[in-house]
Amino acid sequence: MLKAADKPVIKISTENVDLIYRVGDNGRLYQSYLGKRLNHATDIAHLPQGSEAYLTHGMEDYFEPAIHIVHNDGNPSTLLKYVSHTRNQVSPGVDEVVITMQDDKYPVTVKLHYVAYQKENLIKTFTEISHREKKPVQLHKYASSMLHLNRANYFLTEFSGDWASEAHVKEQPLEFGKKTIDTKLGARANMFCSPFFQLALDGKSEENQGEVLVGTLGWTGNFSFVFEVDNKNELRVISGINPYASEYSLKPNEIFRTPDFYFTYSFKGKGQASRNFHDWARKYQVKDGNQTRMTLLNNWEATYFDFDEAKLVKLMDDAVELGVDMFLLDDGWFANKYPRSGDHQGLGDWDETADKLPHGIGYLTEAAKKKSIKFGIWIEPEMSNTKSELFEKHPDWILKIDNRPLSTGRGKTQVVLDLTNPKVQDFVFGVVDNLMTNYPEISYMKWDDNCSLLDYGSSYLPKNKQSHLYIEYNRGLQKVLQRIRAKYPELVMQLCAGGGARVNYGLLPYFDEFWTSDDTDALQRIYMQWGVSGFFPAIAMASHVSADKNHQTGRRIPLKFRFDVAMSGRLGMEIQPKDMNDVDKAFAKRAIAAYKDIRPVVQFGDLYRLVSPYDNKGVSSLMYVTSEKNKAVFYAYKISHFINMVIPKVCMNGLDPSKNYRLVDLTPVDSSKPCDLNGKIISGKILMEEGIALKSLLKSEYSSLALQLQAVD
Ligand code: DGJ
Repeated sequence: MLKAADKPVIKISTENVDLIYRVGDNGRLYQSYLGKRLNHATDIAHLPQGSEAYLTHGMEDYFEPAIHIVHNDGNPSTLLKYVSHTRNQVSPGVDEVVITMQDDKYPVTVKLHYVAYQKENLIKTFTEISHREKKPVQLHKYASSMLHLNRANYFLTEFSGDWASEAHVKEQPLEFGKKTIDTKLGARANMFCSPFFQLALDGKSEENQGEVLVGTLGWTGNFSFVFEVDNKNELRVISGINPYASEYSLKPNEIFRTPDFYFTYSFKGKGQASRNFHDWARKYQVKDGNQTRMTLLNNWEATYFDFDEAKLVKLMDDAVELGVDMFLLDDGWFANKYPRSGDHQGLGDWDETADKLPHGIGYLTEAAKKKSIKFGIWIEPEMSNTKSELFEKHPDWILKIDNRPLSTGRGKTQVVLDLTNPKVQDFVFGVVDNLMTNYPEISYMKWDDNCSLLDYGSSYLPKNKQSHLYIEYNRGLQKVLQRIRAKYPELVMQLCAGGGARVNYGLLPYFDEFWTSDDTDALQRIYMQWGVSGFFPAIAMASHVSADKNHQTGRRIPLKFRFDVAMSGRLGMEIQPKDMNDVDKAFAKRAIAAYKDIRPVVQFGDLYRLVSPYDNKGVSSLMYVTSEKNKAVFYAYKISHFINMVIPKVCMNGLDPSKNYRLVDLTPVDSSKPCDLNGKIISGKILMEEGIALKSLLKSEYSSLALQLQAVD
């Protein structure tokens, strides 16, 4: 039995949350508490010992473990005992606790790291596993985090969907047994399901009340969240890399560092949890999260592959006329032996197509410079087509399984480069480096990834290390991105993967924003953005206005509605301006100017989600409020339309009840006829308690409202 001094109580605290571990009489580590910050030190004495913190395979536990190691002698069990812990301040407001544990029979060390972001009430956890056995040990499971909860009931919200239909919000009760959310796509964390969840405790989740634990993994490879309710109705949440086909042979003294798991714990519902994430992300996780984002015109949906120099320069002129900050040249500008005339060839050959761009990219950057507009360019550097010079020269750089035909993706010819190979890493880095060296005027890159890891085989990794592929691919990708960031810290980059398939925090330190989905239909975007906004701030969420008749859904939605939706994220345009009439163009110009005005409020403000599109109320509404509560932007969208339908009034949130606000219609279709609320001065109290009636404002199908609020003395 250990003496009291050898049984420390280890507190990991943020402003509102305590996570408490203690060492049991047997020397093992237990999670005693996770919840509201305790007020009295004496409370700790009354807490139960709790469940073992980081459960191991092979001992007396009968449910899912966090770690499973097979030792040199074939013994598959691990028993971890507490050794020590350290506490240090990473930076003001950020503290780290590291708990070291060791197996009592084998020289295996496990370190649990907890980084607590005080003000944001967010905790980052990861694990380091190492050993001093003679030969490599086999890691079968290696969780980033294990958390225990003991409540009456649990409701899990997961986010699932498909390409162009990402992040549908679905809530379900957790009963006895296991629910797993995971991916096996290799390097695209977020296509069929997203690497994030909301877990409501003691009742379903609500926007502004109730306890909810919200978590996400920072890893663009295969992830796994296991939620297991046991015989005592206790829940364990195990988060980390998906161990599927990823047995890892860990050399002596090598440290296996898991990806980070981030979670926040809110006592005021999902709304507060999302604001915690947004605050933290802008400050610590998203590249340049404190800088406003550019508006842009992308040529993708405007031209697809069908463009030449003259068309691009015309689009630049249109972009200037509309008033956006940047022109983005998308897919289709490269390759000569197999010109990129469609998605079936050319990937990997990163020289300008001479027929399309006889004067090269430099001509376009020059033109952009003259027009005082920034220039951005699309790349997909991790990929090749079987019809490409790259494929012909380096067949060994392609992921492929021996003795099987090569699998192909998009265009039936897309294949994936083997990023475990340092030469391939150099090549991928070179795609960015060459462009930047030749054309330093490029200020933005859209980094696409349209293919999952189709074939599970690397000719670079040794035969007995093929099971490292999923992990090593993503490590290779990170190495490349680190080199890019070190050399080109200013370059703005967008994380895109055939739409939103890579939306995850693991890559956002390298990227300024992500492409939320290839679906630009404003109605469907309301749903998707609702889901994604639970975790990611508007500053990172690219949202574009596209054609009158949407290219994905075929739906026709008025331009104002399309703008009002896109203006709730990082506004961009995906439209062909020459297809717009003068009235629409004039409207677009005003809307873009209005967005630039409210941009700081949207991009840095606190998000309050007012009416969920999932609540079937016929409207959806949200708003952003500055931290000083002197400015806000309010949006409301009519998302269904029936005769005499009841439209609820909407109560605002997050304002100062004692302040008066002047309301301005941001996007009237006819600038001489703003909505009835325009110019009104109303107190925060009335706006939040009485709300505003939308019936007369949202009359027609797809009507919408974007209001600016400005506090007046
Ligand atoms: C998929 C992206 O999501 C689109 O925006 C576009 O860049 C295409 N790829 C280009 O091939």
